[in-house]
Amino acid sequence: MNYRLFAVVSLFALSVLACAEAGSESENKKTEKQVSEEAPSQVGTELDEEKYIKLGDSITKVAFQTLSGELKQAMQRGGVAEAVTYCNVNAYPLTDSIGEMYSANLMRVAEKYRNPDNALTNFDAEAFEQMKAGKQKMLKLHEGDAVFYKRIDLAPQCLSCHGEPGKDIADNDYALIKENYPYDKAVNFKPGELRGMWKITFPDPS
Ligand code: HEC
Repeated sequence: MNYRLFAVVSLFALSVLACAEAGSESENKKTEKQVSEEAPSQVGTELDEEKYIKLGDSITKVAFQTLSGELKQAMQRGGVAEAVTYCNVNAYPLTDSIGEMYSANLMRVAEKYRNPDNALTNFDAEAFEQMKAGKQKMLKLHEGDAVFYKRIDLAPQCLSCHGEPGKDIADNDYALIKENYPYDKAVNFKPGELRGMWKITFPDPS
């Protein structure tokens, strides 16, 4: 499918942009370059933490731009119904392929989830509590893996699928959502509310 190829090409273009940006941000930190060229060896040291947080920021930026770009195109093709169907099929392949480009596992998790595969684990729940209290991002260690979390807040353009059914979400769109996601909890959000978190697991380098 052509759009697949387009998606892959644009992913790489975006990642180059994101890397360029991460590079310019770190120009005045002279140790950053040396560290990022080495194989990650000491997860948990202060410098490694900084590196993973930077990488996490770049990856989530690419992922956000990719998902919102794809969503917008699907909406233009066929409104909310087309976009829901598109997300149902493609959300996981898209985040998986972005994660793979960075040899990491990328996903979105939420307390009030739409897809039950995105439910919080007990380990995620601790991070989510801190996000509720206002935290923006964090890095945690889990059995040798470095796990990066970043909050996802609800924006006005998300309401047509995550707002109030019957008001923000049209009845026929909500019916389609329920059909695809019988366990959906991801409704009744208001702009600015904590919707979920990006979660990136960088595997134990040892
Ligand atoms: C066209 C409808 C639509 C719009 C608009 C939309 N979403 Fe979603 N969202 C979905 C669907 C469908 C899923 C489930 C994807 C899957 O199967 O993994 C989802 C899943 C998510 C998840 C993953 C956790 C979960 O609940 O499964 C997050 C986080 C999320 N959306 C946030 C947002 C944010 C933030 C916006 C606005 C920037 C937004 N969404 C806009 C339909 C939409």
